[in-house]
Amino acid sequence: MQFQGQTVAVTGASSGIGQCIAETLGQAGAHIFMCGRTLDSLQASKDKIEAAGGGASVFSFDICDDAALIEFVEQAASHGSGLDALVNNAGLGYTDDPIAQGNPAQWREMFDVNVLALLVGCQAAIRVMREKRHPGRIINISSTAALNRASGVYGATKHAVNAINATLRDELQDDDIRVTSIMPGVFTSNFIRNVDPEIIRGMIAHLGLNIDFQPGTKLTAEELIAIHEGLSKQIGNPKALADAVSYVLRQPSNIGVDEIVIRPQKNLEF
Ligand SMILES: NC(=O)c1ccc[n+]([C@@H]2O[C@H](COP(=O)([O-])OP(=O)(O)OC[C@H]3O[C@@H](n4cnc5c(N)ncnc54)[C@H](OP(=O)(O)O)[C@@H]3O)[C@@H](O)[C@H]2O)c1
Repeated sequence: MQFQGQTVAVTGASSGIGQCIAETLGQAGAHIFMCGRTLDSLQASKDKIEAAGGGASVFSFDICDDAALIEFVEQAASHGSGLDALVNNAGLGYTDDPIAQGNPAQWREMFDVNVLALLVGCQAAIRVMREKRHPGRIINISSTAALNRASGVYGATKHAVNAINATLRDELQDDDIRVTSIMPGVFTSNFIRNVDPEIIRGMIAHLGLNIDFQPGTKLTAEELIAIHEGLSKQIGNPKALADAVSYVLRQPSNIGVDEIVIRPQKNLEF
């Protein structure tokens, strides 16, 4: 129960990486404020956390609703002694077509969720942490796509996240608020729901699995585990990312952990 008494807010906690971070920290004693769009999934995680002795509060809203996101952060800050950390994790990525043929509606959604909602979350967290004079951390989930200059529109959103993080670190030097960028490689999650279905179906066929992948829909936990087990050198377990977040949260407030890159052993190629 190393995080007993701490309050952590996690966006995009209804699936994948965010869900794993929320459950890991909650099962280690933190009270987790979780948000996403899928209420039953948030509720299932809350049950798991509470069964392990932690606490959780769930909120279902679209992260692009600024007022709902600000309210979520404020509610988290009013719990216990204040907000110890905000993990801005909600995000998505469409497979990039060449920009000449790309879909502006998909670009807009990626920038709205991955960048603008993250900015609104950061601003709300800074305000409540300053108001309560409560030391805190902002952990933003970026991507290894941000390490490649030519990484398409999705990559551009993650370059933006890293630029925002670096700017915040400068702006917050006199505050007890540290900012971390975590850059994952490929990890098991429902991120694939928006990826080119032919790539995912190719992967499923390569593994000899009987999974009917439909674009825009989530796979079950069992299906995700089956894919992960078949490609464990190429697709990481999000527990590694949750452990990285735990490491960051264990540092004293005068120590910043600026950037963490975590990736599986091999590149995923189909
Ligand atoms: N998985 C990877 O390999 C990988 C690699 C690098 C970076 N990342 C980053 O990791 C983060 C988490 O993604 P993931 O891989 O865990 O994917 P995921 O399983 O699809 O989870 C994405 C989460 O974001 C939420 N979300 C997306 N759009 C939203 C919206 N408009 N309003 C509210 N919530 C929204 C989803 O909510 P619902 O499920 O309720 O819709 C879900 O909880 C993202 O920032 C992604 O860019 C992932």
